[in-house]
Amino acid sequence: MADAATETTQATETTVVESWTEWDPLAHVIVGRADDCHIPPAEPALDAKVPADSDMRGQWGRRPQESIDRANELLDRFADQLRARGIRVDRPTPIDFSEPVRTPDFETASQFGCMPPRDVLLTVGREILEATMSYRCRWFEYLCYRPLLQRYWEEDPNFRHEAAPKPRLTDADYRPDYLSESISIAQRLDWAAAKHFVTTEEEPLFDAADVLRFGRDLVVQHGFTTNLKGIEWLRRHFPEHRVHAVNFPGDPYPIHIDATFTPIRPGLILNNPQRRLPAECRGLFERNGWEIVDAAQPAHNTPPPLCYSSVWLSMNVLVLDPKTVCVEASEVYQAEQLDRLGMEVVPVELRDAYAFGGGLHCCTADVRRIGSCTDHFP
Ligand code: ARG
Repeated sequence: MADAATETTQATETTVVESWTEWDPLAHVIVGRADDCHIPPAEPALDAKVPADSDMRGQWGRRPQESIDRANELLDRFADQLRARGIRVDRPTPIDFSEPVRTPDFETASQFGCMPPRDVLLTVGREILEATMSYRCRWFEYLCYRPLLQRYWEEDPNFRHEAAPKPRLTDADYRPDYLSESISIAQRLDWAAAKHFVTTEEEPLFDAADVLRFGRDLVVQHGFTTNLKGIEWLRRHFPEHRVHAVNFPGDPYPIHIDATFTPIRPGLILNNPQRRLPAECRGLFERNGWEIVDAAQPAHNTPPPLCYSSVWLSMNVLVLDPKTVCVEASEVYQAEQLDRLGMEVVPVELRDAYAFGGGLHCCTADVRRIGSCTDHFP
């Protein structure tokens, strides 16, 4: 006979996959790992992203072990912090990222890692969808999540495990004019404004981290990692949803929406003040009484060493429920602003893991948030 305590444990351990928004109360989440993470060799999509003056130019290979250990220490602590709040946390199973990726269409000499699960897994309602991905080095990353996804599938009879068609990622997927090292920022901004990105429209491409979930509505960034065909693919795949394409002409490296546009709770979104959501994309929110607030300035002038992301990981926060938000511990301005906006702020140290692919939102993927499919833009 199970006693009351065991029953409680069992009840919270029942696997239910379901998440409709970025803010409903978080009950179950995946937190990434830094194990064996590599800086991948040059490839078209990645080259377009690494700034000419970045310390990552020309580097590739396994990341230094001390940095891997430090990142894992922070990720483990974050997982414990979430568990202490009653949230169930699962972790991926790394594969050997030193292995090349070889398909009939391309070959690249190593892989990336499994630190930002947000990039790969898109949870919409009772479904987790493996994104196509748009970098060759990330083609097999979904394998790190298969042990978890298989388990959820066994345990939750309503869970739909889906995978988008794997892309071929031939050279036809990338625009050659993006591949020069000497493209100026002004040129990049002109191209971003003209929605001329490194990926072509050869085939549907999307990374899961270009999608934000607002109940019935999905907001998807058109940029380097997601093309218009990828957005159309999502539209056909989720026929019950309204899918809105957005772009940010102030971002010279538009990759993943979650350091650019951050929903905090129904009615409130943080917006990256440098990246400028165009007027035609604001209507949906403004007509429905949503407030779009410029995010506070980042606390740092530069990203940490060997980091792909910008200082705007300051706004890459993880909402635990509509009143509580995790903010990176050194991002004091962002914390102050969210406090002023009425949120309880939970500081989480993560900056030394940024180089592995992102911040607090990136390094997680939703399995369950308690809520239903609500229409926030009636
Ligand atoms: N492009 C963003 C920036 O550098 C970083 C986004 C990282 N997000 C992620 N899901 N990996 O500002």
